[in-house]
Amino acid sequence: MSRKPIIAGNWKMNLLQSDAKALFDEISSYVSNYTAVQLPSVVIAPVFTSLNQVHSIHCDCGCGGDKLAVAAQNCHWETSGAYTGELSVEMLKDAGCSYIIIGHSERRQYFSETDEMINKKAKAILAGGLIPIICCGETLEQREAGSTDVHIASQIRAALAGISSEDIAKSVIAYEPIWAIGTGKSCDADEANRVIKMIRSVVSEIAGASAADSIRILYGGSVKPSTIEEQMSKSDIDGALIGGASLKAESFIDIIDKTMKVSV
Ligand code: 13P
Repeated sequence: MSRKPIIAGNWKMNLLQSDAKALFDEISSYVSNYTAVQLPSVVIAPVFTSLNQVHSIHCDCGCGGDKLAVAAQNCHWETSGAYTGELSVEMLKDAGCSYIIIGHSERRQYFSETDEMINKKAKAILAGGLIPIICCGETLEQREAGSTDVHIASQIRAALAGISSEDIAKSVIAYEPIWAIGTGKSCDADEANRVIKMIRSVVSEIAGASAADSIRILYGGSVKPSTIEEQMSKSDIDGALIGGASLKAESFIDIIDKTMKVSV
């Protein structure tokens, strides 16, 4: 089956509301030139305080799709209660999000997010009718020790535990080797494709061949306009989760543009 590519910009902890609005306006003016059928699924993930500056853009061609969708960068798994500083899935849906990024290595590293928490978040997101973008990735030490596949497979099994095949099929996974994030050193496209194929085979074991065929698996880590074409030409890479290059309209739009050319 052919999977619709996703180009997702993770703005991380950047941009004040006025900057977020200016960037959103440039991206939105670009996507307005196309239909949702022509575009990849374009997703942007601003900080919580800028969610009011961006919005999803529905296609008016009758296809029922979105030209642009909004993601949150984190959530809590409970629906409400005494969790100071946290936001529930329902609150993020209310603020216009249709995707939520979970398990990013920066959250695992700096905020002690565990596999168990990521699994609870994934379940809460799917129960709330949103789509989780579940991140996984190995450190340089793990790669050099030859334990990349074992580590990634264990992250994926833990994140997807107890989730139905139907829900797994509509989820998104992002393979982001930690040593490639923000370093300018993107993972070799063939190697990224090999790891993503391995992730797909783990999904197949857990949820069956049909879910493995449907789930979209992205690559993230120093993706730039100069790397995207080769990445998108690989059999199992279904798109990109982009940090630095998503903060400038020119490079993010260039990445979307090149993705459209490779995927048609
Ligand atoms: P960079 O594209 O800046 O390497 O960041 C990748 C990332 O962490 C996206 O979530």
